[in-house]
Amino acid sequence: MLSTLPRLIGHRGAKENAPENTLASIREAARQGARWVEVDVMLTRDRRPVLIHDDTLDRTTTGSGPVPLLDLDELRQLDAGRWFDAGFAGERVPTLEEAVALVRELGLGLNLEIKPYPGQEEATAEAAIDTLRRLWPAGLPLLLSSFEVPCLEVARRLWPENPRGYLLWDPPADWAAIADRIGAATLNVHQDRQTAGSVAEYRATGRPVLAYTVNDAARARELFGWGVSAVFTDAPGRLARDLGPEAL
Ligand code: G3P
Ligand code: MG
Repeated sequence: MLSTLPRLIGHRGAKENAPENTLASIREAARQGARWVEVDVMLTRDRRPVLIHDDTLDRTTTGSGPVPLLDLDELRQLDAGRWFDAGFAGERVPTLEEAVALVRELGLGLNLEIKPYPGQEEATAEAAIDTLRRLWPAGLPLLLSSFEVPCLEVARRLWPENPRGYLLWDPPADWAAIADRIGAATLNVHQDRQTAGSVAEYRATGRPVLAYTVNDAARARELFGWGVSAVFTDAPGRLARDLGPEAL
């Protein structure tokens, strides 16, 4: 599965050119040549998994307040594209089901980041995995990831054979033991915090290192030189133009 990991993964779709975590953003990433996309999943009040990054609706929709205060049918009334550009008016917050259908149609690999509203770690992982186990096709690569260890523990219990990525920002002292316990297949780390030494330390555990979020080709080259396997980027097409098409 991870053998098909490309150098560039579209971050929240192609966030530089389309409203993040929408179907339009996934389509844009594919149009730019990305072979994998990363998106974030959270639950509505009625426990439907939807793509959204923030805990609140304010930044990326016409709504406001915490995401889990709305049922799916209320959330679907909101516009999730107009804030980015008038040309994207009419985009909705997609359900995970819709996103999976599109990703399948486009033949992309998917990194689904489980991004629970605080307190909903287990429920979010369970709902996302239930959807994916029903709809994800064998043969397309799928990496589940989270900053939240309880989400990864649920993933290990419910779907042990599907790879998990351990997301790190400010790693706890026992990150390596946690990575072992959750059976992490990859370490997904903040690019800005990395040095040659830190990447070497992560790689010494035998896991591929993925770095978020890299929008500068020179920095991507430096990270690849240190042994980073892939970077999440808001602009896969622009980076591929600078790095060469083999990056895709
Ligand atoms: O999964 C990589 C990256 O998306 C993690 O951070 O905050 O952009 O979801 P964030
Ligand atoms: Mg993310």
